[in-house]
Amino acid sequence: MTIHISAKPGQIAETVLMPGDPLRAKWAAKTFLDDVELVNETRGMLGFTGTWRGNRVTVQGSGMGMPSLSIYANELIRDYGAKTLIRIGSCGAMQEKVNVRDIVLAQTASTLSTPSRGIFRELNFAPCADFGLLRAAAAAAEARGISPYVGGIYSADVFYDERPDLNEIMQRHGILAVEMEAAELYNLAHRHGARALAVLTVSDHLLREEALPAEDRERSFGEMVEIALEAAFT
Ligand code: HPA
Repeated sequence: MTIHISAKPGQIAETVLMPGDPLRAKWAAKTFLDDVELVNETRGMLGFTGTWRGNRVTVQGSGMGMPSLSIYANELIRDYGAKTLIRIGSCGAMQEKVNVRDIVLAQTASTLSTPSRGIFRELNFAPCADFGLLRAAAAAAEARGISPYVGGIYSADVFYDERPDLNEIMQRHGILAVEMEAAELYNLAHRHGARALAVLTVSDHLLREEALPAEDRERSFGEMVEIALEAAFT
């Protein structure tokens, strides 16, 4: 039991999927795992442990933004021994070629800052995905007939951004999409010797007035969960 996670020792698996939304954690666990048990409900940030093809998996909500994710990822890795952490979430497309519903695998995550800024100080550490997970996720997507975009994303500190100039610079440098959590997950995984990846579904488009229709969200989210599970256990 930690400050933010009420699971007993041993109730958290070494592999953890982390959606931002705790209700998505519940949906993913009940839809894709067997023998599911609720292991955390502190602050409503639901976590469930079950099995997928015989492998133990926890699905734990991270909340929105890097400070929230940092609390859960730190406790999962340091107190519960999590070794593989895969963020499953949504992102906003930043390139014309990227479409709503596409899958983005975040190879790197650029930022203005992260909660690790105070540790890195003047160092511009490059948060990157675990290569083995990245390769396995790309293969898992391709095996289902999905061509994922693999490349750099932007982990923003604010959803309501007022810096269009920054978006333009990132677009010119090939940044595929924006979300709010991956960079700190990658920092923490590197710091503590864990593996991390962010598998993202494009839910909206920053260059076009488009958003994933509500009726498509579940199917797109489900594909992402299956890609993450296959990557974790390849
Ligand atoms: N900005 C930040 N995070 C997001 C977005 C966005 O447009 N879409 C989905 N997650």
